[in-house]
Amino acid sequence: MSTQVNPDPAARTDVHRAVAREPDPEQEAVEAGLVDAVVASFDACRDPRLKELMVSLARHLHAFLRETRPTEDEWGAAIRFLTRAGRLTDDVRQEFILLSDVLGASTQTVNVNHTAHAGATEATVLGPFFVEDAPHVALGGDLSSGAPGEPCWVEGTVTGTDGTPLAGARIDVWEADEDGRYDVQYDAARRAARGHLFTDGDGGYRFWALTPTPYPIPDDGPVGQLLRAVGRSPLRAAHLHFRVAHEGARTLVTHLFPEGDPIGRDDSVFGVKESLVKHFARQPAGTSTPDGRVVEGTWSRVRFDLVLAPAGA
Ligand code: BEZ
Ligand code: FE
Repeated sequence: MSTQVNPDPAARTDVHRAVAREPDPEQEAVEAGLVDAVVASFDACRDPRLKELMVSLARHLHAFLRETRPTEDEWGAAIRFLTRAGRLTDDVRQEFILLSDVLGASTQTVNVNHTAHAGATEATVLGPFFVEDAPHVALGGDLSSGAPGEPCWVEGTVTGTDGTPLAGARIDVWEADEDGRYDVQYDAARRAARGHLFTDGDGGYRFWALTPTPYPIPDDGPVGQLLRAVGRSPLRAAHLHFRVAHEGARTLVTHLFPEGDPIGRDDSVFGVKESLVKHFARQPAGTSTPDGRVVEGTWSRVRFDLVLAPAGA
């Protein structure tokens, strides 16, 4: 008997739900038997966590296949998609991180690992543009290093959840320039619009950066093709990245988002959390700056107080 496949995906799902309601017992036995065999193939695994992960992956993958019933051509297209992602990936371009990001998997992994600790700043995605060797910037210094964009004064404190100021906390900051690109996207060795600094004795910090603007995630590869195919935008909500570390505290990876960004909740990687959205006060040209710097043109300022959970929380 030939099966007519309805081209409308929503209707097609209904067709297969109907099939699922009245299963052919022989077909059901073949499919369920294969799942059992794959699950049993991990019986001898000595690492209990690896075994748990592989058994669960096998069950969910087969549930997906049995529910959506891809054609062999569709499955082949999926394999070719992953192959293209692999070929594009190198030390600088990480297409698999992008895939994890646009599927919400990166943010969900952050969520399950950072169960809210009362009062601690929320975490969000790391993204692919963090580098370990960001230049040191003195407190009050300018980490833009000449990258184009409107100057932005950022200040705040780093404390523990009990309010204790954390002196000497290391803060790494990185961001895209106003053209929507990170330094390493121009040249792997370039360092601009990024830096690291240490909090003072009162846990305070301050620096000049760039007012963040929305930018697209790299979309010239298979992940970009996928976004276009499903009618999604590659734009990320404007943000500054922070990684904050202090001995005895849980390292925090987070973002600072400006209030009123039109991308807001449509962030392509689902990274926006309400508690991380802050008011960036717009400053007209000629307004005096906190440190006496002479800025030609407009600038902005924001306060972002960071609270770290205790290590092991
Ligand atoms: C980023 O914010 O830098 C980023 C995050 C996920 C994917 C691409 C870029
Ligand atoms: Fe970013």
